[in-house]
Amino acid sequence: MRVLPLLLFCFAVWAGESKEKTKLPSRRSDLERGEKLYQGHCALCHGTRGDGGRGPSLLRRRLTRASDDAALVKVIEEGINGTEMPGASQMSPREHRQVAAYVRSLSRVPATPVPGDPKRGEQLYLGKGECAGCHAINGKGGTLGPELSDVGDRRSSAYLRASITDPEADVPRSFLQVRVVAKSGRTITGERLNEDSFSIQLRDYSGNLHSFLKQDLAEIHRDRGKSPMPSYKDKFTGTELDDLIAYLVSLREAK
Ligand code: HEC
Ligand code: HEC
Repeated sequence: MRVLPLLLFCFAVWAGESKEKTKLPSRRSDLERGEKLYQGHCALCHGTRGDGGRGPSLLRRRLTRASDDAALVKVIEEGINGTEMPGASQMSPREHRQVAAYVRSLSRVPATPVPGDPKRGEQLYLGKGECAGCHAINGKGGTLGPELSDVGDRRSSAYLRASITDPEADVPRSFLQVRVVAKSGRTITGERLNEDSFSIQLRDYSGNLHSFLKQDLAEIHRDRGKSPMPSYKDKFTGTELDDLIAYLVSLREAK
């Protein structure tokens, strides 16, 4: 019977904690601690100055997925399901709030504006770049590459630039190229859609779906880091590249 008081105590702490949860600390020592944690856990993807990398820049007044402090703490604690944003479950609730406070302080740092003209970029995207053959924006376009409708929320401008000039620099986890050789000798290359112990499903680069039993295959190659997207380094001028990136950065979730 000694368990009950303990349970009640835990509940009281928990209730107090969740009420306090969204109040971000503002003391200087908390912000300093928040920055330390940020540099250790977040800078890898969001940049040492918060200007982004694989993850989006945090130097923005409004964060799409973290519009208020409660949402921000939740994103830091749990990550964003189905994306590359991991949850920081190794940190304590207090540390989540300290990092959140530091992230909020970044929103007051002015971001370097992206050069380039998004309107001209859109023309390049649809025309010379033929990007829509592989990518969809708001439901229109191909499905070979990832959907780009909100890519401005997901990636920094530096990452977007690298995606276009050097597509294999960082291939998203969600994309895996596989090459299978059937026992008959036929080879098929495409994106892996599904795989279990006995079978594998892929879509080739002409859009056809294939399903194989593994026992019918002689070889399976998982080309992690390989991409069918061509490099546009020599196809676009510097100005054109700026325009294209300005366009991609402008693609954000409608609010
Ligand atoms: C492995 C890379 C990675 C790490 C590490 C990482 N993030 Fe992220 N983060 C991302 C990506 C990618 C997204 C965009 C997810 C999406 O919406 O597709 C993101 C999104 C976010 C967002 C939402 C931004 C918005 O515009 O709504 C916040 C806030 C954030 N991260 C904060 C953090 C903090 C704080 C840490 C450290 C505790 C951290 N991230 C660690 C990759 C990362
Ligand atoms: C032949 C098909 C193909 C074409 C054409 C193509 N892409 Fe891609 N793209 C892909 C694939 C597949 C990926 C995922 C693997 C990777 O990162 O390279 C990708 C990745 C990307 C990414 C990274 C997305 C993310 O979530 O990280 C961006 C941005 C991008 N492409 C933009 C463009 C633009 C802009 C053009 C036109 C100038 C273009 N792509 C043309 C197939 C294509």
